[in-house]
Amino acid sequence: MENPPLATVRTIADLRARVREWRGQGLRIGFVPTMGALHDGHITLVRTAKTRCDKVVVSIFVNPTQFGPNEDFDAYPRNEAADLDRLVSAHADLAYLPTVDIMYPPGTSTTVNVTGLTERLCGAARPGHFQGVTTVVTKLLLQVLPDAAFFGEKDYQQLKTITRMARDLDIPAEIAGVPTVREADGLALSSRNVYLSPTQRQQALAIPRTLQALAQRLAGGADAGPHLRWGIDELLRGGFDSVDYLELCDAEDLTPLTHVGARPARLIVAARIGKTRLLDNIGVGPI
Ligand code: PAJ
Repeated sequence: MENPPLATVRTIADLRARVREWRGQGLRIGFVPTMGALHDGHITLVRTAKTRCDKVVVSIFVNPTQFGPNEDFDAYPRNEAADLDRLVSAHADLAYLPTVDIMYPPGTSTTVNVTGLTERLCGAARPGHFQGVTTVVTKLLLQVLPDAAFFGEKDYQQLKTITRMARDLDIPAEIAGVPTVREADGLALSSRNVYLSPTQRQQALAIPRTLQALAQRLAGGADAGPHLRWGIDELLRGGFDSVDYLELCDAEDLTPLTHVGARPARLIVAARIGKTRLLDNIGVGPI
């Protein structure tokens, strides 16, 4: 049977009416939250959701509360028409495009905070960021009420934080992680890559190159400290202006590790090139 065309809704009531209809038919609902500027990473989440669910809802909402005062909320790339075209090709079933007023009506005064996982790494560099993410994702999950929601490993701390949040709040949705989608030369796809000049785009390859090298150096259980310092220098030599962090962490609770041991570990990095902040991570071990 032909797939019916992508439907678009902009209010919570219209969203719920659609999803209720599908649920009444016994269909399994998948959900992919995004901020738009869709690329193949997002589209892979949609396609993965589609293989595991009958219907897939994708939200596009550039969430103001997860941007700091000096961050790129206003400049964040927005292109609704191109995004909707991409969602049609990916066979998404419903695009949910709420406005800021719908998500945060005047008088909104509730936030969601996950402690323990959010203070370090990106949380240290971006105060308030994870509270913005967990609050909006809680709202979106309660609006859509999916069976499963799909998040990229690209934003590894976000994935782990949302997994913990859903568990702690008894949100009845499976939180599924999807491996990072990369360009052929190894750079992780990101909506922010459009900010890079051609020279910076080449320099950005220092991130995947350094992560790969470090994963090899640390896989046998070597003391991480000197190798991480080498990695930071390597990023700066490669053209990055600053490194917010480059750490070896436990892959589940994100505590810092001095070496790879019997549990899976993760190398996680955030670094700045010009005005652009890039994130990446890679699994290492266990031994
Ligand atoms: P956004 O940056 O648009 O990303 C939406 C989803 O796509 C996230 O789960 C992210 O991890 C995933 N993604 C991005 N690049 C990817 C890549 N190269 N490979 C695989 N997945 C990738 O993350 C957000 O939006 C927001 O914080 C959001 C969760 C929507 C809350 O506002």
